Amino acid sequence: MSQLAIDGGSPVRTEPFPGWPPEDPGYLEALKGVIDSKVWGIGGKQGEAFCDEFARFCEADYAVACTNGTVALELALRAAGIGPGDEVIIPPYTFIGTATACLAANAVPVFADLDPASFNLDPAAAEAKISPQTAAIMGVHIGGMPFDVDAMRLVADKHGLVLIEDAAQAHGAEYRGKKVGGLCVAGGFSFQSSKNLCSGEGGALVTNDRALYERAWSLHHCGRVTDGGWYDHRVLGFNMRMTEFQAAVLRHGLTTLPEQMELRDANAIYLRQRLSEIEGIHTQAFPDGATRSAWHLIICGYDPEAFAELPCEKLAAALNAEGIPASPGYNPLYREPAFSQGVDYSKLPWAPEIYAGQVRYEEAAADCPVCEALCAAGFWLYQSVLLGTKKDMDDIADAIIKVQAHAEEVP
Ligand SMILES: Cc1ncc(COP(=O)(O)O)c(C=O)c1O
Repeated sequence: MSQLAIDGGSPVRTEPFPGWPPEDPGYLEALKGVIDSKVWGIGGKQGEAFCDEFARFCEADYAVACTNGTVALELALRAAGIGPGDEVIIPPYTFIGTATACLAANAVPVFADLDPASFNLDPAAAEAKISPQTAAIMGVHIGGMPFDVDAMRLVADKHGLVLIEDAAQAHGAEYRGKKVGGLCVAGGFSFQSSKNLCSGEGGALVTNDRALYERAWSLHHCGRVTDGGWYDHRVLGFNMRMTEFQAAVLRHGLTTLPEQMELRDANAIYLRQRLSEIEGIHTQAFPDGATRSAWHLIICGYDPEAFAELPCEKLAAALNAEGIPASPGYNPLYREPAFSQGVDYSKLPWAPEIYAGQVRYEEAAADCPVCEALCAAGFWLYQSVLLGTKKDMDDIADAIIKVQAHAEEVP
C-alpha cells in the first residue's frame, strides 16, 4: 500500500463517518414539547417518565435522573453509606469522574490493576488492595464491556464490601443476559454528549433497593423526601436535578437506542473479526459472564513490536490522517497531575489520622502494569463509527494495516 497520509500520501478515506449525536428531527420535537408545556423543570412530566422508562430499559426497579454521571456515582456511593475515611477500589483506566465521585462522597479512591484481556478492573487485583478502610469496590464497564460481576461480587461479599457499577459507558450492555446498572447495590450512568444515550449532560442512578433509591432521591433533591412537603428538608442534600429538556431528549433517545445497538453489535462483530486478523492487535475480550457490550468504545491494545514501537499518540495521529477517528485513550488516572501531584486528604473536613498528609499515588504505577501497558500501546475507536457500513469497517481495518506496514515512516 502507498505512502502514509500523515507523511504526505493519500488517505484511505476522506468521507466522514456517521456523526454523533445523530441527526434526528425527533429531538427538536421533544424540545419543542417542553418549551410549549411551559414547565421546564420541577413539576414536569418528562423527568418522571424518563426515570420510569430508563429503569425499565435497565431492567431495574428505580432510577434517579441527575445532572451528570459523576453525580450519579456520588449519589450511589453516598446513598450506599460510603463516606468520610472510606476507601473505594476503582480501576485507573477510566474517566476521572469515577475517582472524583469517590472524593465528592469524602471517600478515598484506591487504584487496582486491570484484567489484561477485558481491560476491566481485575477482581484479584482489587482484592489485593483491600485495607481496613476499604468499604466499596466500584467496577467500571469500560467501553461498555461488562466487568465480571460474579467474580467481583465474590470478592465484595467475602470482605463485606459494597459493590457499585460505573455504567457510565454501558447503556444496554448485558451480563449473563441481564442489563447492567441494576446488577449490584447501585449503578451510575452518564448522558454526556459522547455517550450512546445522550442529552449533552446528564446522569442517572439505577437500583433495585427502595431504601437506597429514597436516600439518593433525597440527596439529589435538596434533602426533600418523596412523601414530604416542599420546605421539608430532612437530610443535607443538594440540587442535582435534571431539567425537563434533558429528560425529553433522553426519552426520544431511548426509542432509537435498541436499533442503534443492533447495528453496533453487527458492525462490531465484523470489525473485531477483521482486527483479529491483524498481527499484534488485541481487542477487548468479553470476560466470563459478559453477554453484550454497549460498544461505547472499541478498545484495542497492540504489541509495540508489531508497530515498530510506535507510541499510541502517533499511531492515533496516523490513523486520523487516514480518515479514521481514533484516539490514544486514557492516561492511567494516577498519572494525571490531579492525583500524581498529591491529594491533600488532611485538608478534607474529616481529616482522618490515617491520611495525615498528601497521598501521592505514585506507587500505584508499580502495581498496575496492565494499565501501564494498555495506556502506552492502546487506542480507541468511538461508538459512532459502528453506526456506519461494512465498507466503513473495512476502511478502519485497512487503515490500521496500512499504518502497520509503514509504521517506521510515521514522523
Ligand atoms: C467511565 C465513566 N465514569 C464516569 C463518567 C462521568 O460522567 P459525566 O461526564 O457525565 O460526569 C464518565 C463520563 O464521562 C465515564 O466515561
